[in-house]
Amino acid sequence: MRGLFMAQLLVAAALVLPLGSGCRGETVSSPPVLPLRNMHSQQRYDAQERSEFFLDGRTMRPPPPHTLAREVDPELTLSEGRVNDDSGYVLTIPEEVAEHFGDAGAVLSRGKERYEIYCRVCHDGTGAGSGTAVKRGMAQPPSLYEERLLRMPDGQLFATISNGIRNMPAYEHSIPVYDRWAIVSYVRALQVSQPGAGE
Ligand code: HEC
Repeated sequence: MRGLFMAQLLVAAALVLPLGSGCRGETVSSPPVLPLRNMHSQQRYDAQERSEFFLDGRTMRPPPPHTLAREVDPELTLSEGRVNDDSGYVLTIPEEVAEHFGDAGAVLSRGKERYEIYCRVCHDGTGAGSGTAVKRGMAQPPSLYEERLLRMPDGQLFATISNGIRNMPAYEHSIPVYDRWAIVSYVRALQVSQPGAGE
């Protein structure tokens, strides 16, 4: 009796299996057969789609004003180069930077190293603005000895590195925050290294 049952099972399997696997690898245009739909098809919005539900008609909801991403440091001084009430740029490099690297000399040597890696290719070793990339067709950056850049607050220089400006790309994602400040310190050193260069 048991043997007969097993034989019947085998025959049934032999008949049914090809049904399930017969279409593998073929392209079909009809939607897949889903006996239990569960959560396979649900109502949803596409990105940027118009919404009838929200008053402003936007599907993608803007975050409430002044929302910060979890990984963003609410201390604007260090993370954005802004004074904490966001009313302007900080004038000097925050003290935490020297503490982080040990002393001002360590900040400078780290800054030099990072400048050589990230900025030199366009701004060249002296900061005059004719790096290799520029010789090969990249837009020409201004000389770092320009009067305007000599007077620029440290925080604005930091923000320029972070966010980029016009033709210059942003480096927020490739250079960690303390390294960006170290580069600011090195740019300042470059600027005073050639007195009169900006006149
Ligand atoms: C890919 C080339 C490139 C690299 C790399 C680059 N820059 Fe620039 N930078 C530019 C260009 C081009 C401009 C001019 C932007 C414009 O005005 O269109 C510029 C402008 C600037 C300015 C002037 C901003 C102003 O207000 O006019 C500063 C300061 C500066 N860069 C600093 C840096 C520092 C520091 C680094 C390294 C972290 C760096 N740049 C890396 C191309 C580059």
